[in-house]
Amino acid sequence: MNKEKLGNLVTHFVFVIVFITANSAWSASKEIAGQGHVWKDGSEIYSKVCAYCHEERVGPRILKRKLPSDYIQSTVRSGRRAMPAFRSSEIDDESLTKLAEFISKN
Ligand code: HEC
Repeated sequence: MNKEKLGNLVTHFVFVIVFITANSAWSASKEIAGQGHVWKDGSEIYSKVCAYCHEERVGPRILKRKLPSDYIQSTVRSGRRAMPAFRSSEIDDESLTKLAEFISKN
């Protein structure tokens, strides 16, 4: 097998692992989010839903980066590759605004 093929295989393998990890974390967070839970504030959502991946190196770090609030909100609604999308039944619009502000400012 040549070097390039091996490289592709390794990349693919890493992606599959990330995807599997992401998916199991995903079901756990969906479980919490899917209970029609009323969120207290942005910090609660971050720690109960986002931290599963964003504090465990499944996803990139999103705190302390001053990411724009709009960008955070659209990422949460549409998802991004291995990151699942969250619907308004899981995180309502008002909570999402608070969450995005929390992440932008922390
Ligand atoms: C199942 C794991 C998972 C969960 C849960 C998750 N994310 Fe992500 N997120 C990811 C991954 C993986 C990426 C990187 C996607 C890519 O570009 O390949 C990502 C990317 C992002 C980005 C883009 C970061 C950048 O560097 O541009 C933002 C913003 C983001 N997530 C916000 C959130 C928020 C807010 C939550 C909580 C509602 C959340 N994510 C929950 C896995 C997750």
